[in-house]
Amino acid sequence: MRLDRLLGNLGYGSRREVKGLVRGGDVRLDGALIDDPEMRLAITPDLRARMTVGTEALDPLPGFVALLNKPRGVTCSHKEAGRLVYELLPPRWRAREPAVSSVGRLDKDTSGLLLLTDDGALLHRIIAPKAAVPKRYRVTLARPLRGNEAAVFAAGTLLLDNEATPLRPATLEVTSPTEANLTVTEGRYHQVRRMFAAVGNHVETLHRNRIGSLSLPDDLAPGALLVMTPEQVGFVLPPRI
Ligand code: URA
Repeated sequence: MRLDRLLGNLGYGSRREVKGLVRGGDVRLDGALIDDPEMRLAITPDLRARMTVGTEALDPLPGFVALLNKPRGVTCSHKEAGRLVYELLPPRWRAREPAVSSVGRLDKDTSGLLLLTDDGALLHRIIAPKAAVPKRYRVTLARPLRGNEAAVFAAGTLLLDNEATPLRPATLEVTSPTEANLTVTEGRYHQVRRMFAAVGNHVETLHRNRIGSLSLPDDLAPGALLVMTPEQVGFVLPPRI
């Protein structure tokens, strides 16, 4: 890909602006200045470590995945009232082409692990119902658990209001009378909140801490982002058979 196109797609500016950036002597490859904006580059995974723009490493390459510790109170949408998840991203990421999107959504009041990517095909592989990627949520409840919830959720027969298809079996690990981890393999609208409503309870707080075998790092502050390595991305999806 041509350097000016790459930088433009990564949000560094219009084609004219990135030509100016390169000619101004701000872009280096392996420490050497590049002065030709039309130079052709192979987009290989090592490019990010080899290229600098100004004093910084190049932004994540096309096809990247990042993990955000979503705080409560922000909405997973590009255009809604209130604080949006995309406002937590570096400004350049918001100018990228293809656009960066969240992999599925978390409710405004749900916190925790949210993936972001510019790779539409990967996004669809992760959220496709047939992929059945497990997602684990830590739940705190308004009322003590009755004791039968794990069996009800595991049965694969629970019907949510206004739905015709029962939920797939889900796994509940109870950690205290009003706290549990729930692992589901679907992503229906407000699913976890509606599951607890169906068993006469109410979710007070909801936090996603795992997708596939990828856990939210304990030391990642709310609102902080981490660009993932290809190996970490491999933890999200089961290997293709
Ligand atoms: N289930 C919910 O009810 N809300 C979320 O944000 C995610 C799963």
